[in-house]
Amino acid sequence: VGAGVLIVGGGMIGGSIACELARHGLRVQIFDRQQPGLEASWAAAGMLAPTESHETRPLVPLAQASFDLYPAFVAAVEEASGLKAGFVASAGLHVFFGDRAEAERDEVLSLNRSVGVSVEAVDVAEARRLEPGLNPAARAALVFPNEGRVDNRALTDAVLAAASKLGVGIHRGKPVEAIEIENGRCVGVRAAEETFAGDWVVMAAGCFSAQVPGAERYAPTRPVRGQMVALRYAEPVRVAQVIRSERGYVVPREDGRLVAGSTLEDAGFEKRVTPEGLSQILRAAAELVPALSSAAVVETWSGLRPGTPDHLPILGPTDLPGLLMATGHYRNGILLAPFTARLIREWIVQGEVSVEAGAFSPLRFERQSFQATR
Ligand code: GLY
Repeated sequence: VGAGVLIVGGGMIGGSIACELARHGLRVQIFDRQQPGLEASWAAAGMLAPTESHETRPLVPLAQASFDLYPAFVAAVEEASGLKAGFVASAGLHVFFGDRAEAERDEVLSLNRSVGVSVEAVDVAEARRLEPGLNPAARAALVFPNEGRVDNRALTDAVLAAASKLGVGIHRGKPVEAIEIENGRCVGVRAAEETFAGDWVVMAAGCFSAQVPGAERYAPTRPVRGQMVALRYAEPVRVAQVIRSERGYVVPREDGRLVAGSTLEDAGFEKRVTPEGLSQILRAAAELVPALSSAAVVETWSGLRPGTPDHLPILGPTDLPGLLMATGHYRNGILLAPFTARLIREWIVQGEVSVEAGAFSPLRFERQSFQATR
């Protein structure tokens, strides 16, 4: 194809799409408003949990398909970049506290089974055999055998390095100011007062997508802040797998750190870390694994998830030929990157996709406002 593909946003999603398209012989350029890979992709926990827990039922098949792609995706990125991504396939443990623990466990169990997610109830003694540091006050537990985790910062670096090695041009510090339209077709972008021609433009700018004029009606994204804390163990207690409750989660890293999260805040683009946010996260982490109360806090940060009105991602063609969306991945961008890349490649190369993706269409917001005002 002549002018190739222009991707707006150089995070996990944009980088993964770039690698996928470059491997299929397309010319690709990425535009990032700053240094790529430093927003939600950098801030994430790296939990790969294709479960139903956020009322996002249509997402489960996509999340599972993406999880299934993960081992080969990581291997290809590591091979192309020469960098390691810290991917580990390992069960996730969901634990419940308090008087309603068993009822809550049963709800989460049946919700997940109803969408085909593998999950088993285990008694607390068994959960403590799997995770000796688990709080003995836990009253009920579920094991999700088909999960994993990845060092999302290392993976994002590896994806961007792989993209470069595959010939992708990366424009750093170049915010896209407009989408170029000619004769009812998207023909490129304007960035830093320069025009770049493209046969396709893919919007992958996370929560910043709605700020690009011309994209906002397809991608009404908004930032949902998540604060995070990294801990280093002070006691011999270790955490082997992801453990979560209704209040928070802990994700072990291969480098001996452990990442704890998170808050869900509507705070605009303000990436502050607050005493209230940190104390909520640290309380939830210590409730899961009490020995973490004396761990060393080694880092705190926050990131901006790309939220959408229905918490579902925004994927696929728009009614402007040449313009595609790949944004709004909310809490699941790291997990969904491999399958998002495949879908965008199928739309561009084949003109159609191999799965039912109507629930993610960028046109659904216009339809909704039409219905609302009729
Ligand atoms: N997926 C982790 C989070 O949203 O906090």
